[in-house]
Amino acid sequence: MVELDPAVVTLIYLVSAAFFILGLRDLGSPATARRGNLLASIGMLIAIVVTLLNTGVLNYELIAVGLLLGAVLGATAARLVKMTAMPQMVGLFNGFGGGASALVAIAAYFRGFSLDQLPLPTTVTILVGVLIGGITLTGSLVAFGKLQGVIAGAPKTFPLQQPVNAALLVLYVGLGGYLVAMGIQLPLFLVLVAIALVLGVLIVIPIGGADMPVVISLLNAFSGLAASAAGFILGNEILIVAGALVGAAGLVLTQIMTKAMNRTLPNVLFGAVGVDTKAPGATAAVDKTVRSIDPAEAALLLGYAQSVIIVPGFGMAAAQAQHAVADLANKLEDRGVNVRYAVHPVAGRMPGHMNVLLAEANVPYTKLYDMDDINPDFDRADVALIIGANDVVNPAARHDKGSPIYGMPILNADRAKHIIVMKRSLNPGFSGVDNELFYHERTMMLFGDARDKVMELVAEVKQL
Ligand code: TAP
Repeated sequence: MVELDPAVVTLIYLVSAAFFILGLRDLGSPATARRGNLLASIGMLIAIVVTLLNTGVLNYELIAVGLLLGAVLGATAARLVKMTAMPQMVGLFNGFGGGASALVAIAAYFRGFSLDQLPLPTTVTILVGVLIGGITLTGSLVAFGKLQGVIAGAPKTFPLQQPVNAALLVLYVGLGGYLVAMGIQLPLFLVLVAIALVLGVLIVIPIGGADMPVVISLLNAFSGLAASAAGFILGNEILIVAGALVGAAGLVLTQIMTKAMNRTLPNVLFGAVGVDTKAPGATAAVDKTVRSIDPAEAALLLGYAQSVIIVPGFGMAAAQAQHAVADLANKLEDRGVNVRYAVHPVAGRMPGHMNVLLAEANVPYTKLYDMDDINPDFDRADVALIIGANDVVNPAARHDKGSPIYGMPILNADRAKHIIVMKRSLNPGFSGVDNELFYHERTMMLFGDARDKVMELVAEVKQL
């Protein structure tokens, strides 16, 4: 083991923190995101190497085994997990992060127990770490279960749910205070661990499966705070900083998502909003006129247009149609058509979902436009080509005060000269509400799996 001067260690940690912050800054734009990822990874590598060299590591073999196991599991999961299952995968990772921090806190308590002494500030930090880490672990597991379909997505409510949760929190604080005052009490500590774990379940079960991505981003912030608490317990500055950065970034993301869905965080957490697909309006209306179009006709409209705006949504992800979509855009551009992509902040099921998919298909990020930037251009677009998007283009959000999506900012696809909507049926999307755009006089429905139909479109455009 190398004996490093503590001042040198702190200085190196400062350098790695700078890498994290620069990395986060670069992650803010698709143009610099790859570099951001690299910078943050370098920061993490520096932090890990210095920590391993410096801190009194007792058993390098165990660390190596953990590293190997983690690497194998992580690499396998990254290969196997489908893009559409990413939100629950992220949820699981957050949960494990929170769980790891809670374990650090629990281990610190057991260590204090064996030495029969724990300074008061350490006990308080341990209790904070157990609470946040425990809630993050079980809350994330419930969120994972709902998104994976292992647990029913509908909100599970029972009478006095919120007062019970509040009472448990008060109990935790009260018993925690008692523990701090009385010194080490192992059974009581274990009761507190159990309360934290139960609270995580109780906080997340009344939230509808549909709101899980917001919950996951909030739990992501929690996992950061839990890591920060673990940093205080271990006296490790870089863990404190990294945890605080994750916490702050998670909170900002949560705020962006709730704003884009026109919801408030209390409404997501306590509103028990869920999608009942059997509710009136959730099924497609049958008495309205729908015009459908076939790929050959759609290809004519697209191929002879001057300006086409593609609106991707969850269906593009579900169909894994991004490569075919990029191919179509290339073919159209070869014909001199100006093709751009309109990306709604909550299109898909996770933040940046569309950006990630389109980047995977090598669509230049300069072709991706944020909602506010592209919305004024729909008026002049010849065709709005909507691929598996639904809620993010539903005009009811503008005027129907009774709609669950009322007030959500939408993409102005209905203002284009021609509107082609590609999806398999008239079924609603995530919000469970019918979409009046399907019955719009300028809308043509191109029914079918997005990938198959886009590939047919490519073939037709080639024939023009
Ligand atoms: P949605 O409104 O969920 O609509 C997606 C549509 O894709 C469905 O109506 C479905 O219609 C179609 N689809 C599914 N599989 C398909 C396939 N293989 N081929 C073609 N179409 C397919 O999607 P959106 O417009 O992207 O809106 C996102 C929604 O998710 C919003 O309500 C948003 O608030 C919510 N949400 C988003 C996030 C984030 S962070 N992105 C987080 C939480 C909630 P068919 O069944 O008829 O094919």
